[in-house]
Amino acid sequence: MFQIIEESKAKIKVSKEKKISKKLPVFYNPVMKLNRDISILLLNSVRKSKLQIGLPLSGTGIRGIRFLLELKRNKIKNISFNDNKKNFIKTIQDNISINNIKGKNNILISNEDANLFLLNSSGFDYIDIDPFGTPNPYLDTTITRLARKGILAVTATDTSALSGTYENACKRKYWAKPVRNELKHEMGIRILIRKVQLVGAQYEKALTPIFSYSKDHYFRVFFKCKKGKTKVDKIIRKHGFFETAGPLWLGQLWDKKLVKNMHKNADAELQKFLKVIKEESEINIVGFYDIHRICEKLKTEVPKYELLMDKIKKKGYKVSRTHFSGFGIRSDISKEDLIRIIK
Ligand SMILES: C[S@@+](CC[C@H](N)C(=O)[O-])C[C@H]1O[C@@H](n2cnc3c(N)ncnc32)[C@H](O)[C@@H]1O
Repeated sequence: MFQIIEESKAKIKVSKEKKISKKLPVFYNPVMKLNRDISILLLNSVRKSKLQIGLPLSGTGIRGIRFLLELKRNKIKNISFNDNKKNFIKTIQDNISINNIKGKNNILISNEDANLFLLNSSGFDYIDIDPFGTPNPYLDTTITRLARKGILAVTATDTSALSGTYENACKRKYWAKPVRNELKHEMGIRILIRKVQLVGAQYEKALTPIFSYSKDHYFRVFFKCKKGKTKVDKIIRKHGFFETAGPLWLGQLWDKKLVKNMHKNADAELQKFLKVIKEESEINIVGFYDIHRICEKLKTEVPKYELLMDKIKKKGYKVSRTHFSGFGIRSDISKEDLIRIIK
């Protein structure tokens, strides 16, 4: 019924069933390896050390175990694993033993509802919300227990609501109107960001995105927290509409210095993923141009992207590809000027 698998430096006991499902006795999704890789890279690339880490929805514990094995020395002060699944304590203890993790006195394990776990804690410098679907049920307690200068990581897998397949679901859950066009993923992630920020605002916590991305079936955003009413007011001033989508976050999706650092520290595989993000993080512009879509409307041939980007650069504009779409170009050029170049 169980097998041992390896992910990076960690070994984990997982269910033998091939189909990934919520119903598995222990939930492990190999597709989320990159999600975990990025978390490790980000924590290794920020200046912070001696972190108190909270993992309210731990699953097999793979993420926390990898933190223990792969974060630089001094990064972790203590780490708390929680999951409400039956037998979770045994699952995690087994996985800790399999990995020969020493110095277990900085590891806490609990088997409660995530919200109770968070409220009963004394708070964390890093909290990772990795739910099935929306992070909504955990936002209040997470933000309440997030340290004044903490980091919050949020995954959302309900991208069909955020990206406009179910518009009413997005309105109900995220208080905003999504779009169904080529911008759907970027608009969706900005809608998610605003929602998290609004919850933060209630507790006078200003949450600024430092790293965001959309991949496979999920969105992922890391926020840095700062406490204070005026800081929160500044955040809220950056909420608004982009064309018909919104209200959403119109500010930065990345801290470009951090992205540079992450890119520098990454292995070859992650560098490939981060390359485009690094380039687009330099351009603080909302949305991008879908070149295929524009050419279709103009009834012209799609130009070579490199050539087009060169021409845009030569005119003095910033330009990059975007990880949100293979057809997109992020630039501060106006649509009229872009069309002139394409023509
Ligand atoms: C997507 S999985 C987490 C995966 C894990 N973070 C990883 O990186 O492999 C979500 C987990 O949340 C747990 N869960 C769902 N609802 C919960 C709740 N209300 N309280 C605590 N855990 C919960 C599930 O048992 C499941 O293990």
